Amino acid sequence: MTKTFISHTAMAHTRWATHGQPSNRNCHPHRSDENNEFTVVHNGIITNFKEIRMVLEKKGFVFESDTDTECVAKLAKYLYDQGKGKLSFTALVKAVIKELEGAFALIFKSTKFPNELVATRRGSPLLIGVKTDKKLKVDFVDVEFGADAEKISEEADAYLASDKTHPKMRRTQSRAFLSDDGQPQPIEYYLASDASAIIEHTKRVLYLEDDDIAHISEGELHIHRLRRDDGVSSQRSIMTLEMELAQVMKGQFKHYMQKEIFEQPESVVNTMRGRVNFNTHSITLGGLKAYLSTIRRCRRIVFVACGTSYHSALATRAIFEELTEIPVSVELASDFLDRRCPIFRDDVCVFVSQSGETADTILALRYCLERGALCLGVTNTVGSTISRETHCGVHINAGPEIGVASTKAYTSQYIALAMMAIQLGEDRVSMTARRAEIIDGLHELPRHIKEILATDADLRQLAQDVLFGQKSLLIMGRGYQNATCLEGALKIKEVSYMHSEGILAGELKHGPLALIDETMPVILIMTKDSLYPKVQSAYEQVTARMGRPIIIANTGDENVAKNPCHKIWVPQTVDCLQGLLTIIPLQLISYHLAVLGGVDVDCPRNLAKSVTVE
Ligand code: F6R
Repeated sequence: MTKTFISHTAMAHTRWATHGQPSNRNCHPHRSDENNEFTVVHNGIITNFKEIRMVLEKKGFVFESDTDTECVAKLAKYLYDQGKGKLSFTALVKAVIKELEGAFALIFKSTKFPNELVATRRGSPLLIGVKTDKKLKVDFVDVEFGADAEKISEEADAYLASDKTHPKMRRTQSRAFLSDDGQPQPIEYYLASDASAIIEHTKRVLYLEDDDIAHISEGELHIHRLRRDDGVSSQRSIMTLEMELAQVMKGQFKHYMQKEIFEQPESVVNTMRGRVNFNTHSITLGGLKAYLSTIRRCRRIVFVACGTSYHSALATRAIFEELTEIPVSVELASDFLDRRCPIFRDDVCVFVSQSGETADTILALRYCLERGALCLGVTNTVGSTISRETHCGVHINAGPEIGVASTKAYTSQYIALAMMAIQLGEDRVSMTARRAEIIDGLHELPRHIKEILATDADLRQLAQDVLFGQKSLLIMGRGYQNATCLEGALKIKEVSYMHSEGILAGELKHGPLALIDETMPVILIMTKDSLYPKVQSAYEQVTARMGRPIIIANTGDENVAKNPCHKIWVPQTVDCLQGLLTIIPLQLISYHLAVLGGVDVDCPRNLAKSVTVE
């Protein structure tokens, strides 16, 4: 068959600055020279870029930016020239990444290899979407798609059946192909860090592994490994994303963050769907089934996460402790690694991550895998590094979260973890009634969340009248509400740029009380649980210093109703699930403060959705 292929390649990059300020000069792509012989886009950090840059400067290269990425483009040119132009594009990229330290997802383009792209990753995520009108016959293999695939496909079927190696397959051992009518078919490849970037084009994706080198040329995709002998198979299966385009569009909402807050009555149901039986009061998390008895025998459960995901683990720690009676610790991934926390074979480590790609959490996971612990993932991203590298886990099924500030993922993580605790505790008969009470609480959640969302206009008014323009905000609570205070404060600072601090009310006397006067804005969470009297005492301590807290209380609390302060009402639920409701007004307030302040709500300055660098 004659090839009549016309190929086009293009690349672009939205950058989260690690080296060099966000500026035109530091924009990607970066290039090797003024003839653009090699151009590169990069997500990640090259930690040895200074050394490489120094060597290349000595060889006469003149750098145009402050980034770490530019050294990659220039190194490609240097090595290509050293090889007297004889290296293939993939061999060249192999040679380049052998010199690199750090984390990277890289895409290379070159005038020396027109209409070809080479992409590779180590530590940072990279996936390839495949779009074609033809049905892909690919569930196996070391992937190779081709315009001449139809011809190969029949032969390959025969060879696979006979267990021999097809001559054309020898190079990559096996091949995926298109069923075809004999004509070369248009085929498009999309490379991205995250599936939501390509979902409008295709739902068929394959995820690259560390040290994969993907070469796209003449409509074909070949995957090579950096080292043949590293024991990692080069088989990559194609997955079909369940994500819908509508899920990544804003619809009637002004911002993704707003949409995602308002999606919570449905997203919490999606987290529970098919897992909770509200009649028999039982929970089945399929992903954990085979490991339940091992987990129940472990000597402790260690949660490791960052940011909001860390808060979801904090929020549910008490549920685990109560229902399983297993000691629990909750660790910030970066600090866990800094301390080189002791981990043993009989530990169970749970990695919570919306994206499943957070670098610190992944490094902590690998650290725990090396020490033989059973590792569980709780992620929102099917196919992500954490879901692939853990032994087992739970997908929270919240749907794509696009706003940088995590909202619906928090409530879904909280529920997924609560469900995990309930299932683990199912062997404790003494806790049967408590488990049933919590499951009944889960059943009521969507209705309760809707009730709070219906107060959005009041919350907006409160944000505008009382909080907007203030320099700082303290959010206080105790017990189950500790996590809400920390998470609420994180939401407010990251999207409104207003300083905010979550204060555990039990600590008030040990320092933070010094901040209280008539001008300091305070939100106090005073919901009806066993710590209510202690929170009342915190209220007294604050008002005695002329503080005028806004109180988040349970609807119908007469004691709070007669208080002249500003109030935010939330329905009462089971104590350990109350945090799922108290966080919602704080999400809405942070959203409104951001809008009032003219902040780019979905992309607040200096932050990225997936923090794929350490
Ligand atoms: C805050 C926020 C971050 C993330 C953190 C971890 O709104 O989104 O704090 O929670 O960067 O990200 P994941 O959960 O993807 O590991």
